Amino acid sequence: MKALVLCGGAGTRLRPITHTSAKQLVPVANKPVLFYGLEAIAEAGVTETGIVVGDTEKEIRAAVGDGSAFGLNVTYIPQDAPRGLAHAVLIARDFLGNDDFVMYLGDNFIVGGITGLVDGFRAERPDARILLTRVPEPTAFGIAELDDAGRVMRLEEKPQMPKSDLALVGVYLFSPAVHEAVRSIGPSRRGELEITDAIQWLIDQGRDVRATTISGYWKDTGNVTDMLEVNRSVLETLEPRIDGSVDAYSELIGRVRIEDGAKVFRSRVVGPAVIGAGTVVSDSFIGPFSSIAEDCRIESSEIEYSIVLHRATVIGIGRIEESLIGHNVEVTPAPSIPSVHRLILGDHSKVQISS
Ligand code: TTP
Repeated sequence: MKALVLCGGAGTRLRPITHTSAKQLVPVANKPVLFYGLEAIAEAGVTETGIVVGDTEKEIRAAVGDGSAFGLNVTYIPQDAPRGLAHAVLIARDFLGNDDFVMYLGDNFIVGGITGLVDGFRAERPDARILLTRVPEPTAFGIAELDDAGRVMRLEEKPQMPKSDLALVGVYLFSPAVHEAVRSIGPSRRGELEITDAIQWLIDQGRDVRATTISGYWKDTGNVTDMLEVNRSVLETLEPRIDGSVDAYSELIGRVRIEDGAKVFRSRVVGPAVIGAGTVVSDSFIGPFSSIAEDCRIESSEIEYSIVLHRATVIGIGRIEESLIGHNVEVTPAPSIPSVHRLILGDHSKVQISS
């Protein structure tokens, strides 16, 4: 059994963050979302892992290296453009050989790991097994229709008239039968080789395609709302720890982690929250479900339910909520006269101003 982890893609929904960095590396509780997936793969006893990379190859390589830190042996597979999930399987043919494999979307987050699934697949060896979960808005997902016995009948990518509310989760298990499928299909209306079409091809050929419906937590962290929600859920399980320093005028409430070298002065931190290594928080309020990355400066500000990436500076701002603030971003007050907003925003930035 091998693993194929998809870390290419365009990441349009996470712009402008993805103009300069890979969405798979956006931190959740100060750890890249991709690392949770790699840990789950290692835990399932899979070692040989191919990582499909696109424009952000350098950054993914710098973060993951040869995979040994995770107990994995990683091979990088460059994809010239995001031509679809089935295209990623197509170009990984040499790496995958004739082994079964688990395909894992690098920006997906699953609680509870994949060990049970991988073990089950090893024992049963169907041609493919997909994971499904019920979603409130089926039109936004790949949707599966099952027969009365629970076999997969039909898959449809983002259907206008969904026949079920069972969405495909970003983890798939395949036998080598999928290689013929990805060679046999053509590009979809949006010009991609769709994995749903490849699985449909297997079903149409009478191959054994099974589904597991999971009730646990799953999120595609491709957009900011889901990213913040995953961050919330991981912070819920945070082990409190103070490795940095907190002065006598500060108060920490609930599950708070202050990482090595972080300093908190005259501030109130209400957990669950994490303050990254080297970050300085002063005269501020850090509220629940906030992850502040490394080497940030938070001064005279209030931040809640937000993710702040490394080396960002937030000074003298009333209150920030439900926000994703990128690397090296500076948020500071404008001079009081004249009363204006002064903005230097990258392409595709989104700002909501409350005055
Ligand atoms: P998606 O989120 O479906 O696609 P995307 O990254 O292009 O994002 P957006 O819709 O915001 O533009 O991709 C799921 C995962 O698979 C993600 O980790 C990127 C990866 N991927 C590839 O590696 N190659 C591909 O050709 C595609 C489409 C995605």
